[in-house]
Amino acid sequence: MKRIGILTGGGDCPGLNPVIRAVVRKAHQDGIEVIGIKNGWKGLVENEIIPLDLRSTSGILPKGGTILGTSRTNPYKKEEDLKNVFDNYKKLKLDALIAVGGEDTLGVANKLVKDGLKIVGVPKTIDNDLEQTDYTFGFDTAVNIATEAIDRLHTTAESHHRIMVVEVMGRHAGWIAVHSGIAGGADMILIPELPIDITEVCDSIKKRHERGKDFSIVVVAEGAKFKEGDMVIQEERLDEFGHVRLGGIGQILADLIETKTGYETRIAVLGHVQRGGTPTAFDRVLGTRFGVKAVELAQQGKFGHMVCLKGNEITDVPISQAVSKLKTIDMNLYKIAKIFFG
Ligand code: F6P
Repeated sequence: MKRIGILTGGGDCPGLNPVIRAVVRKAHQDGIEVIGIKNGWKGLVENEIIPLDLRSTSGILPKGGTILGTSRTNPYKKEEDLKNVFDNYKKLKLDALIAVGGEDTLGVANKLVKDGLKIVGVPKTIDNDLEQTDYTFGFDTAVNIATEAIDRLHTTAESHHRIMVVEVMGRHAGWIAVHSGIAGGADMILIPELPIDITEVCDSIKKRHERGKDFSIVVVAEGAKFKEGDMVIQEERLDEFGHVRLGGIGQILADLIETKTGYETRIAVLGHVQRGGTPTAFDRVLGTRFGVKAVELAQQGKFGHMVCLKGNEITDVPISQAVSKLKTIDMNLYKIAKIFFG
């Protein structure tokens, strides 16, 4: 093993730079050269690279985002792009490639492995919805940002005797909503896994107010939908992986709650704030452990595998198992959250 490539694809998240730094440091220790591929799969299609060394990766540990850039490029969309991926992999003389990404980036990695490339996966997403790993880095940072926002909204909601609806990220799974909702003491948490029953939500809020609490916090994941509806979208246009742009459920929910309960209701959409800024210590440690393990997997020739966290152990699984379905919320955790509703 002389030369490995690394790319980061899909939505960025805090913890990507700690992975890149760990890959470069571990590789350097073992005499392996590292090539950074810019902007996810796009960089391999267009042969856009930057050599990575100790100097260029120094000081990036606490930095959010990714120094390599990212994109939602799917090389399987165009035959020519796919051909370029194979040609450039060869041109760059890579002995292995480390692909850091979520379901989409790793889905592409899985196909490329079947088509003959030597790839190791590293799971990332703030949504924490990737199968086969207990946690993805980025999630802890997002939960802490959302929790701080809920704490801040609590004090203003209380002063004004209002309901505050907080819309957090979470396309298919309510992990951020449930964790930040429990941590922030939310009075209601609505997630993509369970369709919203607006009458139930309003009854629960009314009961709380009748008890003398004249403010409430409702946390809703952007992918949540009403019993009789679909996900609320901001833009119909699909990205290269067939995703629409979500957003707007919070406003619709707030309007309905205000109309049905008569209580003044306001909305805060956290959006990409949850994806920005410095990673928490947990995400820095997880990213670092993942990065070191990814190099080890490449050295062992475990291509088509992804590093993962099981309990407190960093281990690996076939990428195919991780991308075959999404990891939705643990209903036992949601049951605990429900004890505090209303
Ligand atoms: O998958 C992570 C995520 O942050 C989702 O929660 C969200 O729906 C999506 O990415 C937003 O993507 P983009 O940054 O491309 O708008």
